[in-house]
Amino acid sequence: MLCKVWQMRSCASILHQTVSWKVGSSRQKHTLPDLTYDYGALEPHICAEIMQLHHSKHHATYVNNLNVTEEKYQEALAKGDVTAQVTLQPALKFNGGGHINHTIFWTNLSPNGGGEPQGELMEAIKRDFGSFQKMQEKLSAATVAVQGSGWGWLGYDKESGRLRVAACANQDPLQGTTGLIPLLGIDVWEHAYYLQYKNVRPDYVKAIWNVVNWENVSERLQIAKK
Ligand SMILES: [Fe+2]
Repeated sequence: MLCKVWQMRSCASILHQTVSWKVGSSRQKHTLPDLTYDYGALEPHICAEIMQLHHSKHHATYVNNLNVTEEKYQEALAKGDVTAQVTLQPALKFNGGGHINHTIFWTNLSPNGGGEPQGELMEAIKRDFGSFQKMQEKLSAATVAVQGSGWGWLGYDKESGRLRVAACANQDPLQGTTGLIPLLGIDVWEHAYYLQYKNVRPDYVKAIWNVVNWENVSERLQIAKK
């Protein structure tokens, strides 16, 4: 019947479109978020080539693979195939974490960033770390020390109401693996810095403080406290 309706197209093509539409209609697909600044806007601290590859290639790959994994997971759920569901969980964690982490990361950065935070965030930093400089040192040290690929984080512990520094391996999402609510993330996968900083990760971590969007970090703290 479909072939009669769409005579100009092949049955195979229509079948594919119908299947795609049905799958697409059953859930929302993840999409790559746009940046609010140009790829070159964070120079000289992060060069345009890194930003372009990082966003349009690396993050896009996490998004695509997350959508593929979720489709497979839905099929496994529909079949009641628990073995397949368990098999897919590492890919869900890796690609889902990659999408979550990078989505936060882009908003944590700004060409108008740097300096020090104001207001409630600054007061919380002083209370929990002693000073802004001490927080910077602690987060920088934890981030530089990540073995292999991973992330350094400033997070909010909802139970104690305090800020914490943490590090996560690979693309493990902060909240999903530690319970801390992410406020500020520093990506130390080599794709985030190698083209500009080569193997000198500490120089990249030092430079990124010049483009931290403290307004975004403050907004995240306000939301986390609700
Ligand atoms: Fe990354």
